Amino acid sequence: MTVLFVVLGYAALAIFIVGVLAKVWKYGKTPAPLKIPQTPAPVTASGVPVRILSEVVFFKSLFKSNRVIWLAGYLFHIGLLLALIKHYRFLFASVPAGLDYFATFEMYPGLIMLGGLGLLFLLRLVVDRNMFISVMTDYVLLILLIAIAGTGTLAKHYFRVDITQVKEFMMGLVSFSPMGSNSTFPTELIFLIHFSLVLLLLVYFPFSKLMHAAGVFFSPTRNQVDNPREKRIVAPWAENLPAPTTDVEEVAEAHGQA
Ligand code: HEM
Repeated sequence: MTVLFVVLGYAALAIFIVGVLAKVWKYGKTPAPLKIPQTPAPVTASGVPVRILSEVVFFKSLFKSNRVIWLAGYLFHIGLLLALIKHYRFLFASVPAGLDYFATFEMYPGLIMLGGLGLLFLLRLVVDRNMFISVMTDYVLLILLIAIAGTGTLAKHYFRVDITQVKEFMMGLVSFSPMGSNSTFPTELIFLIHFSLVLLLLVYFPFSKLMHAAGVFFSPTRNQVDNPREKRIVAPWAENLPAPTTDVEEVAEAHGQA
């Protein structure tokens, strides 16, 4: 069992890292030849990071467009962030003082995540326009995330999971000595399900819409400066064209009507 999950764990992590890097590389290489910042947009380059930060931290445009989806999405992401911070203790021997607070304080990140995910799912089922644009993978992803948060919450509040064994197994994995004397795969079924679903998520991540986590930084409508009048943008193919003219004779000549 330990060997199987060590192999699966490394394979999933490799697919995740290579997949995400390949996608980010592709995003970076994709030309953005048109000036299409969504206004109101920053008029200076230094305003762009501020704008992107307000998207990443507050989901600002979603807030402006739909408060209910914003609330659901925000709850889910805050819960996810808190849950991931709490998982820090499985990966490292000592937890820094600040993060220790998160590890010990009972703030039920799993329930916050489940609340947000449940609302997101419900909106796709009951609001016509949301349902109309929903595809199968939207539901599959929500179910996967609900299952991960659900099994995590069950592992924490209802079933006993040997946390020391989880920690030893995970530390063995991250220190590249997975088959050490103490690092055997924990035997609890609920942990097996939680861990397997997380591996599935890692493998699926680079191929799914979850890549919006990196994509937001490459979005032309968000990362462009609103300066089309101050700074003329010339596409490479147009660089060698003759300068525009209003001279009637020249225009006629260009059209072969001289
Ligand atoms: C390989 C990585 C992971 C391992 C080994 C792991 C393991 C665990 C364990 C053992 C628990 C029970 C915690 C306890 O009893 O205190 C737990 C809880 C939880 N896990 Fe994971 N997990 C992993 C990744 C993830 C990921 C990627 C997510 C989210 C997408 C997640 C979401 C949760 C949630 C929401 C809880 C409940 C936390 C709470 O309410 O306090 N886990 N996890």
